[in-house]
Amino acid sequence: MKAVWYEEVGAARSVLKCGERQIPVPGVGEVLVRLHASGVNPSDVKARAGTRGGKSELPYPFVVPHSDGAGVVVEVGGGCRRVTPGNRVWICNGQWRRQYGTAAEYIAIDENYCFHLPDSVSFATGAALGIPALTACHATTGYGDLAGRAVLISGGAGNVGRLAIQFARRAGAFVIASGRGAADKEHIASAGANAFVDFTSTSFVGDVLAATHGRHIDHAVEVEFGANAEHLSELLSERATVVTYGSARVLRPDLPFYKFLFKGIRLQFLLVYLLTQSERFEAANRVIALLENGQLDVPIHSELGLVDCTVAHELIEDSGRKGAVVLRMAEAA
Ligand SMILES: NC(=O)c1ccc[n+]([C@@H]2O[C@H](COP(=O)([O-])OP(=O)(O)OC[C@H]3O[C@@H](n4cnc5c(N)ncnc54)[C@H](OP(=O)(O)O)[C@@H]3O)[C@@H](O)[C@H]2O)c1
Repeated sequence: MKAVWYEEVGAARSVLKCGERQIPVPGVGEVLVRLHASGVNPSDVKARAGTRGGKSELPYPFVVPHSDGAGVVVEVGGGCRRVTPGNRVWICNGQWRRQYGTAAEYIAIDENYCFHLPDSVSFATGAALGIPALTACHATTGYGDLAGRAVLISGGAGNVGRLAIQFARRAGAFVIASGRGAADKEHIASAGANAFVDFTSTSFVGDVLAATHGRHIDHAVEVEFGANAEHLSELLSERATVVTYGSARVLRPDLPFYKFLFKGIRLQFLLVYLLTQSERFEAANRVIALLENGQLDVPIHSELGLVDCTVAHELIEDSGRKGAVVLRMAEAA
């Protein structure tokens, strides 16, 4: 099969290789999926660069990158119950603690990491779901009822953020989303946010409170915790929840501890790979229900070929993208 891999961490242009690899054999509880598309996420790019979780040593002789993908099940291993050959599926956790991710024509993967892809949904969209949609869905619906609550989505033009806006609105929240400049404002408005606030504004806290008519935030979904912790400490209501899933720009955040403490803030770190099976199924089922009703907008920024994996990684490293970056497998297009 055609696949992309790296044997050492480093810049995409230096380490990514494209060539032939053996088609994997599904083990017990695994299915073999003929991939039609592979989604590229910041986590994949950081792993390849050697900056994910500070780990720069590869645990395998080579790694086929990417966690997310979509395709058709072609074979099932022993003991599989949920998935059968011919099923269209979207995939998560492809390369989480595993050697073989989705940047290949086939993947053998635990059937519990495969979810129904409705016929009406393209493989490219399916490959854009795993990390962003499960993170967005769990961050908004996984910690209590949001109906009537004031919810701040940080980085609402990002892949996770824009989906989080949609889940929070569906849950009945009043949603304020932050972004950078006019292009983000439009992208965020089209996802259904009630209000937009520019995170580069020097009056960010006042801008948020103006948008909520003075009401404080009950639930925050935070993409850049270190950069925004101080603002959050001002904006949160007592006993509010902060679900944070990233802090790429400030790796060792200063936490205004007593401001958080005296509001009794619930601070929740979310790592999507570590959702329990029931949390993962619950989020995936919500995603599928919205997809089936045409109610989830998942923008695609670029669709490229497998051989363009380097370009795809560099696009993810750039600022200002609007939507997912997906690789299509040529023969399956
Ligand atoms: N823990 C987990 O399970 C998990 C899951 C998914 C993603 N992540 C991490 O979360 C981050 C975002 O992922 P993504 O796929 O959504 O990436 P993305 O599409 O690049 O979105 C990130 C967004 O955050 C914005 N941003 C930058 N600085 C900000 C700030 N100070 N305040 C608010 N927003 C800011 C960016 O704007 P500009 O482009 O204009 O800078 C961009 O719109 C990555 O670091 C990723 O590794 C973690």
